[in-house]
Amino acid sequence: MAKTSDRRTFTVTTPIYYVNDVPHIGHAYTTVIADALARFHKLAGRDVFFLTGTDEHGQKIERAAAEKGLSPKALADSVVGRAQGLWRALDISYDFFVRTTMDIHKTGVQKLFRRLVDRGEIYKGEYKGWYCVSDENFLADDVALEADGSKICPDCGKRASALSEETYFFRLSAYRDRLLEHYEAHPEFVRPQSRLNEVASFVRGGLKDLSITRTTVKWGIPVPGDPKHTIYVWFDALHNYVTAAGFDWDMGRFEKHWPADVQLVGKDILRFHAVYWPAFLMAAGLPLPRTVFSHGWWLKDDTKMSKSKGNVLDPHVLLKAFGPDPIRYFLLREIPIGQDGNFSHEGFLHRVNSDLANDFGNLVQRTLTMIGNFFGGEIPEPAPETAGDAKVRTGFDELKGRAFDLYGACALNKALEEIWAYIGLVNKYLADNQPWIMAKDPEKRPRLARVLLQAAAAIRGASYLAFPVMPRSAERIWGFLGEARKPAEVPWEALDFRGFGPGRKIGLPQALFPRVALKDFLAEDAAAPAPGPESTTKGVMSMDQISYDEFRKMDLRAARIIEAERVPGATKILKLKIDLGAEQRQMVAGIAETYAPEDLVGKSLIVIVNLKPAVIRGIESQAMLLAAVTPDNKALIPFFDRDVAPGAVVK
Ligand code: MSP
Repeated sequence: MAKTSDRRTFTVTTPIYYVNDVPHIGHAYTTVIADALARFHKLAGRDVFFLTGTDEHGQKIERAAAEKGLSPKALADSVVGRAQGLWRALDISYDFFVRTTMDIHKTGVQKLFRRLVDRGEIYKGEYKGWYCVSDENFLADDVALEADGSKICPDCGKRASALSEETYFFRLSAYRDRLLEHYEAHPEFVRPQSRLNEVASFVRGGLKDLSITRTTVKWGIPVPGDPKHTIYVWFDALHNYVTAAGFDWDMGRFEKHWPADVQLVGKDILRFHAVYWPAFLMAAGLPLPRTVFSHGWWLKDDTKMSKSKGNVLDPHVLLKAFGPDPIRYFLLREIPIGQDGNFSHEGFLHRVNSDLANDFGNLVQRTLTMIGNFFGGEIPEPAPETAGDAKVRTGFDELKGRAFDLYGACALNKALEEIWAYIGLVNKYLADNQPWIMAKDPEKRPRLARVLLQAAAAIRGASYLAFPVMPRSAERIWGFLGEARKPAEVPWEALDFRGFGPGRKIGLPQALFPRVALKDFLAEDAAAPAPGPESTTKGVMSMDQISYDEFRKMDLRAARIIEAERVPGATKILKLKIDLGAEQRQMVAGIAETYAPEDLVGKSLIVIVNLKPAVIRGIESQAMLLAAVTPDNKALIPFFDRDVAPGAVVK
């Protein structure tokens, strides 16, 4: 790939997603890769155009809509809103969301179709062959007939339909040599390299002209001047990349954003993007994208996750439990772009608990808590750097350089690997220096200040480098560190380890990455009152005595319930939203057997707010209420008998 550092603009695209259903984790993967690249290149000072959208035409959507009793447009409208909601929840920062039903797109496609007709690249003929509606793809001639005389799509395994109709053909066969020359001259045109080899050998085998219109499909863009033909959905869809960039409604914008630097596609649709797409662009006289990057699939139980196989993971369940960053981190850290990955709850939890909660979360938590406890949140003038301290700084400077190159080369998993190796180094630095021991000796305060300053500066730097992948957490950590600016406001070049000095007001961290156990993630029982001696009226004196100081560690508050709802599929728990004066939180409580949601709203009760968050049925519970447990294991809540300010301390 061309060196990223000398370009001023950066365009990245995802495929446009079919609207037969809402996106799942597999689709989220491509979009998250694109988002991380877009965010990195913005930090690097480039004018970024990040494009995504929806593919709304064609027979597949026509059929899906008919099955649901909707018009195709109504189906598209309903799915688009939900898809955009998912992208918002995943913090996807796209610059433009294209829908192929937009006028700018339809007009652009018709113009390009006409241009190809005028240039003699398109001719009318007759198509006879087999078509797979699920993939919107014509089958190769060599696919064998089944015993019943039908054909099965070799890619998706579904039954294909026989077609025989008048069509317009695109002279794809004429592009064989030009495509091969292009691959030869631009080895970065398809990545990874192994995929380029596959594409080249396919093209070397010879190309047939491509049918690019259908008469039996109505849901699509009509052929200009011959409306009984509808433009083939892939001809229509591929051109979204240029119509959304500005062709030909704003040519200034188009020239700025096109050609794309990186077009991300799953390996199943590489052929469309590495063979048809460049041929269409050559035919129209438009520049070719620099790189089509083919990524692998997320598998579940070793098969591709897909709606038709019914094995998709619902991103909303993970989002509810973890928020966006652990999902983004996992998807990008687990595999290099290009390879397949297996998605299991166990693998996911293991990675996020170990890398995020343990390695990074604990580092932030410990460091900031020590700064709070030992220095009242403000690091004083530190002792000069020793050689050991300097390593934390120079280690960061080197990491910053490497991370730049790795992000620039789309090696996101490697960039994260390096950032986490550095986090390991900072953890080791704290373990070696033992600031908690230093704190006992007043003479060592300047050393203590230095160690905590190095650790805090390292945390700030590492969060910045992880920002493209975990923007929300990086922003929160910068907030805890008393940074007035957000990471996105600081150019990559300007980020300096030494930019973090003494004298800032550093806050206490709020739960960053909750540690979640698999059983808690999958179970609802975690919120139900625990049976045992403490849950009955007996055995009151059987528990150990605690000191007042121990009791004081509990942050108990008055909270007002502002929302209460049932959790679909769960019988014991309710989800509550509570007002704590300064903030609102959500929580899950095992009270569904004693209270109906409508009885709770407006009531005030006591909650503990500094208990580690738990994830119950995939929902993060950020507080726990106090309740008496009846002999038959039901919860009875003591409500306040008069008005109390939400957030009032209970002691
Ligand atoms: N509409 C076409 C693309 C047109 S682009 C001009 C399409 N849509 S799709 O919704 O079926 O798929 C979009 C992308 O999601 C593809 O790149 C596909 O590879 C990707 N994925 C779908 N399932 C996936 C996984 N299980 N794992 C990773 N990516 C997956 O094709």
